[in-house]
Amino acid sequence: MRLTDEEKRILDGQQGGAAQMALAVLVDLGELFGAEELIKVEQVHIDATLYMVDAGLEFAERMADLGGEVGVPTSLNPSAIDLRQWEAYRVPPEILIKHKRLEAAYLKMRAMPTWTCAPYQNGIIPRFGQQIAWGESNAIAFANSIIGARTNRYADLMDICAAIIGKVPKFGLHLAENRKATILIRLKGISAPMFANGAIYPLLGYLLGEMAGDQVAAITGIPPDAKIDSLKGFCAAASSSGAVGLFHMVGITPEAQTLEMCLHQSKPQSVFDITPKLIKKAEDRLWTVKGDAVDLIVSGCPHYSPAEFIQLVRLIKGKRIHSSVIFWAFTNRTVYAWIKNNGILKDLTDAGVMVFTDGCPLQYPKETWHFKAAMTDSAKFANYCFSQRGLDAAYGSLADCVETAVRGKICRRESLWRKK
Ligand code: F3S
Repeated sequence: MRLTDEEKRILDGQQGGAAQMALAVLVDLGELFGAEELIKVEQVHIDATLYMVDAGLEFAERMADLGGEVGVPTSLNPSAIDLRQWEAYRVPPEILIKHKRLEAAYLKMRAMPTWTCAPYQNGIIPRFGQQIAWGESNAIAFANSIIGARTNRYADLMDICAAIIGKVPKFGLHLAENRKATILIRLKGISAPMFANGAIYPLLGYLLGEMAGDQVAAITGIPPDAKIDSLKGFCAAASSSGAVGLFHMVGITPEAQTLEMCLHQSKPQSVFDITPKLIKKAEDRLWTVKGDAVDLIVSGCPHYSPAEFIQLVRLIKGKRIHSSVIFWAFTNRTVYAWIKNNGILKDLTDAGVMVFTDGCPLQYPKETWHFKAAMTDSAKFANYCFSQRGLDAAYGSLADCVETAVRGKICRRESLWRKK
């Protein structure tokens, strides 16, 4: 790679050990992908924030001990746990210690304690065309596809290297020519009333991810007035069923106002149709629960926005969660403070909902919670639930999740695409 004089000095260690190590990692990455130079990024979102193995913790602590400090605004993805309400989340003390060490390392490097997988709804919002380096698959898909910022799917530990240097190798989705859609996905036979049921969006995203894999897809037929939280659920599902970093929603993605713009004036290599029948089959694949009982309801994956809390409290106020069911809703600290101040939190806790911040429900401590089956309004959670936690899951609308939680028995209303 061609390095500037300043970058050469960093590689020589003249700006400290952390910057030297971070740049060495980025140069290796660039050479692996054939990049010729580094480009500046204006913000970073770090995915390596939940303790899984000691290697990730030791890397962060080493960087911090070597004097590493972020050079651009840097947000943090969720921890595995609620770092403040860890007792209510039943976090074993030996696990808590590792999370606290990881927290201390990233804060020492001056990252912002956002602890959220929806940084784009928490004040850390890039703009169209901006070069950024984000980890966390749902956030990457959202930044590229809904906002039109530019990031690759950065892996754990690359992210903190990018934050310290404020640069990344110039390759992949940072370049306009690699953002061209090569496959086309068309929605067929999906009516306006079907779109009125927000549960359709994660299912469409899930199908797009399966069809696209790691290719850039263009999708037609999404209503231009789709809610931002529906698009969030779409992105999370798409990037869990496929290695999706970018898709173009024609008329929504800023650089894809027309199909010709997405395809860069060429023809798609393949064309797929999504029909109500395929949506029903996708929904069936996200339902592995046998019988009619679940003991966990998970919502807030990705983390809840204020609008989602308003929807939840409208559905649940005045009701009571059944004694056989635990109901979790996850959000970030900012939204938590708002719902605490405006009374929503009280209504939810009165109904029996447990609202957590910072954490990721997929990483709940198995040592202290012994669930048998979960229901969720997140296609991403349902998709990963069995493979990552060995827990059967059922995907359903938020209304069905609430009804299930109150009755203590699975409730599944027939959606319009199931009747087709
Ligand atoms: Fe966020 Fe964890 Fe879901 S990181 S998107 S809550 S799996």
